[in-house]
Amino acid sequence: MAKTPATPHHIAIVMDGNGRWATRRFLPRVAGHKQGVEALRRCVKACADRGVGVLTVFAFSSENWNRPVEEVSGLMDLMVGALGREVPRLRDDGVRLHFVGERGGLSEKMTAGLVQAEAATAHNTRLIFNVCFNYGGRWDIARAAATLAERGELPTEANLDRAMALAHVPDPDLFIRTGGEQRLSNFLLWQSAYAELVFSDKLWPEFDEAALDEAIGAFQRRERRYGKTSAQVSTDTERSRLPA
Ligand code: IPE
Ligand code: IPE
Ligand code: MG
Repeated sequence: MAKTPATPHHIAIVMDGNGRWATRRFLPRVAGHKQGVEALRRCVKACADRGVGVLTVFAFSSENWNRPVEEVSGLMDLMVGALGREVPRLRDDGVRLHFVGERGGLSEKMTAGLVQAEAATAHNTRLIFNVCFNYGGRWDIARAAATLAERGELPTEANLDRAMALAHVPDPDLFIRTGGEQRLSNFLLWQSAYAELVFSDKLWPEFDEAALDEAIGAFQRRERRYGKTSAQVSTDTERSRLPA
């Protein structure tokens, strides 16, 4: 009997292409980011509806500080505004929020908003939603190593894993990047070791349920071998179907 392919438990997304979406419409880049928030709201709902357990998105990278001042402040304002508007709905929809990234350097208003949003949704279990803001994969690894050094623990894989910013969730199964670029841009470098990478040409504001389903479909057609041969993987799958 053919087995129904599994829905990825953890999806990570580099939400790229907001600026191009706006520029193509002769709008300021911030208008693209605003539209990106709409796309994200749809995506969170779609993931929860499909039984995805964890969604992790890249909202602002450590390197995005290098953008023009107006764009950076526009993004900060958008984040503060979105926290105020979106959190009550997320709380009622069973979504648990986590903000992942360096909080030093963010405004007090923003930091307070992040803490409040996490507290307001802490009891939820339907979908874990990690928003990476002022995040970089190298920052994450270096910080975990520093934490271990402070505690006098050895930098083993297991210890590093426990000290990383996403220690509360398993590694991503599916890593999606929209906007047509095929690079990681310093997102989840450690955690994506065995994620399936799917690149979509859609700009993030246009990424809808159909595009999500397409990415999930591509994931389901992949064979995850983790270093084994294809024959071994098939035998493992057969075995896992036998009664224990
Ligand atoms: C991604 O969209 C959002 C952030 C980096 C904050 P971009 O702003 O990078 O959009 P493009 O790549 O310029 O189109
Ligand atoms: C990655 O997109 C960061 C986010 C989506 C938040 P960028 O647009 O900043 O990446 P590069 O600069 O094209 O690599
Ligand atoms: Mg970009």
